[in-house]
Amino acid sequence: MSKIELTAPCNFALEAVLAREIRDLGYETTKVEDGRVNFETDEYGICMANLWLRTAERILLKVGEFYAETYEELFENTKKLPWHKWIPRDAEFPVAKASSIKSKLFSTSDIQAIVKKAVVESMKQKHKLDWFPEKGSKYPIHVFINKDKVVLYIDTTGYALHKRGYREIANEAPIKETLAAAMVLLTPWREDRLMVDPFCGSGTILIEAAMIGLNMAPGLNREFMAEKWDITPKKLWEKARDDARGKIRSDVKLTLQGYDVDEKVLRVARNNARLAGVENQIHFQQRDMRELSSADKYGFVVTNPPYGERMQDNKSVELLYKDMGKVLSKLDTWSFYIITAHEGFEKLFGRRADKKRKLYNGMLKTDFYQFYGPKPPRAPREEKPEENIE
Ligand SMILES: C[S@@+](CC[C@H](N)C(=O)[O-])C[C@H]1O[C@@H](n2cnc3c(N)ncnc32)[C@H](O)[C@@H]1O
Repeated sequence: MSKIELTAPCNFALEAVLAREIRDLGYETTKVEDGRVNFETDEYGICMANLWLRTAERILLKVGEFYAETYEELFENTKKLPWHKWIPRDAEFPVAKASSIKSKLFSTSDIQAIVKKAVVESMKQKHKLDWFPEKGSKYPIHVFINKDKVVLYIDTTGYALHKRGYREIANEAPIKETLAAAMVLLTPWREDRLMVDPFCGSGTILIEAAMIGLNMAPGLNREFMAEKWDITPKKLWEKARDDARGKIRSDVKLTLQGYDVDEKVLRVARNNARLAGVENQIHFQQRDMRELSSADKYGFVVTNPPYGERMQDNKSVELLYKDMGKVLSKLDTWSFYIITAHEGFEKLFGRRADKKRKLYNGMLKTDFYQFYGPKPPRAPREEKPEENIE
């Protein structure tokens, strides 16, 4: 096993949640930057990070970094890197992605072409070959340039990690799985507590909560780019998958409830839960939020209500938020965690949040409003992890 530097890009504002996930997996984070967390592992860590990280978008293997202001510098420095260490002679190695921010080199198509040429030259020297058939496994190269600093990666993931493999059909405004998982991880919810999503749509938040509560690795039902790589052979992936299957908690029965006015989206939600293998853990039912009531105490509402982004929706959404405030105020021992882009939310809801956290839902700037209920008696494990996440 060798020391490997990995970088996990994530949604802006989720860096601290992701960094905690990485540390919980047992790896050391080396640097937390805007939209990415760097950490050190070995080959097994590539399998573990892909299988387990709930809030990362992908896992990139860092090949090297340097400063470049000219194409010549880009070419020469890229050529010097040890590409042959990772990429075998029969591999396909497209420069799949290039991005450039505030840098002298900004034409992404030129950057891609130069990097490709330089990698071929480097590989020619080391593999003693003149021509590469590129018929083998794929090693997609990513180039990231920020203020003239070039970082070169190979993508170990393939299609993005938020695609867990359980969401076949989506409704109009589904929340990304990574963001839904982050919302749950930002609450002190534990597997013995009730969670309700009164605007559950296709069920993403509750499905992610179920996987967290059961300690189910989010990547168990999908494949990854590096499964066909020499440095991470099949055996290693089997070991990581077996280990993950062994860690699923079969002793837990969760209380997760999802409601929505739309019966159609509930069908999608039930199917998604089935595909994720958590259908027995979530109760979905058609119900208007205005009819929500519960005799249970100390529950959690974690939800992504409509935002009213179009002008014509605004009035009805504002009314909905007012009603939500009235309905939820009756659940006086509960905690509420609500994400919305509507800036007047607290006023309409009728209560100031104990904490407000900026999150991005796609490109949309939203806030995650957190209203803490009282702690239940005799619950020594109760804690508020979000207070550790700055
Ligand atoms: C932004 S979507 C939720 C998306 C969900 N988080 C997902 O991942 O699919 C809002 C949902 O609220 C539902 N909704 C709108 N008004 C409602 C009401 N009064 N009561 C319950 N659900 C409602 C819509 O049908 C829609 O599915």
